[in-house]
Amino acid sequence: MRMQNNVLILDFGSQYTQLIARRVRELNIYCEIHPYNKIPNNLDSFKAVILSGSPFSVRAVDAPHPDLSQIKTHKPLLGVCYGAQYLAHFNGGSVVPSNIREYGRANLSELSENETLFEGVEKDSQVWMSHSDTIAKLPDNAVRIASTKDVVNAAYRMEGENTYAIQFHPEVYHTTFGKNILENFLVKIAKVAQTWTPAAFVDTTVSVLKEKLGNDKVVLGLSGGVDSTVAAVLLHKAIGKNLYCIFVNNGLLRKNEFQNVLDQYEHMGLNVKGVDSSERFLDALKGISDPELKRKAIGRVFIEVFDDESNLIEDVHWLAQGTIYPDVIESVSATGGPSATIKSHHNVGGLPDFMKLKVVEPLRMIFKDEVRRVGAQMGIDANLLGRHPFPGPGLGIRILGDVTAEKVRILQEVDAIFIDALKQWDLYDKVWQAGAMLLPVNSVGVMGDERTYEKVVALRAVESTDGMTADWVDLPYKFLQETSNHIINRVKGVNRVVYDISSKPPATIEWE
Ligand code: XMP
Repeated sequence: MRMQNNVLILDFGSQYTQLIARRVRELNIYCEIHPYNKIPNNLDSFKAVILSGSPFSVRAVDAPHPDLSQIKTHKPLLGVCYGAQYLAHFNGGSVVPSNIREYGRANLSELSENETLFEGVEKDSQVWMSHSDTIAKLPDNAVRIASTKDVVNAAYRMEGENTYAIQFHPEVYHTTFGKNILENFLVKIAKVAQTWTPAAFVDTTVSVLKEKLGNDKVVLGLSGGVDSTVAAVLLHKAIGKNLYCIFVNNGLLRKNEFQNVLDQYEHMGLNVKGVDSSERFLDALKGISDPELKRKAIGRVFIEVFDDESNLIEDVHWLAQGTIYPDVIESVSATGGPSATIKSHHNVGGLPDFMKLKVVEPLRMIFKDEVRRVGAQMGIDANLLGRHPFPGPGLGIRILGDVTAEKVRILQEVDAIFIDALKQWDLYDKVWQAGAMLLPVNSVGVMGDERTYEKVVALRAVESTDGMTADWVDLPYKFLQETSNHIINRVKGVNRVVYDISSKPPATIEWE
């Protein structure tokens, strides 16, 4: 999908590259991340280029050394961290190992006056450094424009070019005026217009979808989550009743979720069919305890059900998916090797080829927070947009060991009490994800005069931004005390509640 006012971010593998993109987009400017070794052919459509940081040293032989001859001096260019060192190293400057490893806070002790890049930036303001090499000598045509106490060449520009370089990271929150610097570069220097808004995205996407899909029919699997819902509403705007939504109840959803969400979808005017296949899923899960085998079984049945249902729609040629940008950005590996599979997330990667459908992904160029803003722009209910993430295999991976209908019932009750309590205590929106796990152990308790021997449940609530790392939430003791009481008093079969205080890593968010 072509967007106007395109900024190209060349990725050298920094952990912060996506953050650069998000900051640029927050300025209402559209940008794309491309790996340094795959510079796009359509350079004409990019109005400015940013070079990211990198875990490499420019001096290493295997470090990224792309040919920038079509970019430098042709387009406004900003090098950040490694990007700044790269521009110095290959233009007559010198980059050497630093005596002091420079990580964390620093202050702009020297700042040139009348530099457009630094308009509105205060002298001595904080910047964030993260590098172990340093630029010892600038290229001959470079002018130093900022220094910190330890880094003399903290920023420079090339005379007679629109080329700028900064050693610190403007994209991180800890660089106080980082966003101003990016805005100065993109708006004042590169003259990029700030027209990338949720409304503009909706307009452009709807017209592109109209053109692409014409009168074709599209099938889409709704999950109740934010991404599939926003994708559906966008497509619905473009092609109306030709969008066929299927919402499958795998029997592992939250309590009353299937009916509630189905009602919401119908209320939104979507052409949606609810398919209750709970028994088929539970049958397939019978006797399976291994987490990966459970995921595979759930994934397989989902595909079967979805395939059966889409075959009922005559002449459907397209499959729509709620894939978002972080899933499609080609990552630059710092180690060169693939990372180990920790859990197979079955809904990443989409449906199999045998379905013979062309794929349409209206959200594939936007980040999660943008998906929410686009959803809000289209009038989707704030409660739906603010929902916690929920795994595709649902309660199936929160019931440790084998899954039975009775265990699902118990966990649905526990989970509902926990989630309702978070909402009542005004804690729901402060938590990134929460849920309950049913443990495969019984413990002894006493209720009235009777000894009990019943299930243990664990509650989990985490803070996170993307699920890659997470920390447990310090919920008030009073909240935990009340919730635990409610659960034990109301849910038959549970006599003990524990709270999970593990961070990710080394634990994961789900227990399976
Ligand atoms: P972990 O447990 O890996 O979870 O720390 C990170 C995020 O991914 C979700 N998750 C899944 N989502 N299918 C999904 O669609 C899965 O199999 C799956 N396993 C974990 C989890 O809920 C959390 O948000």
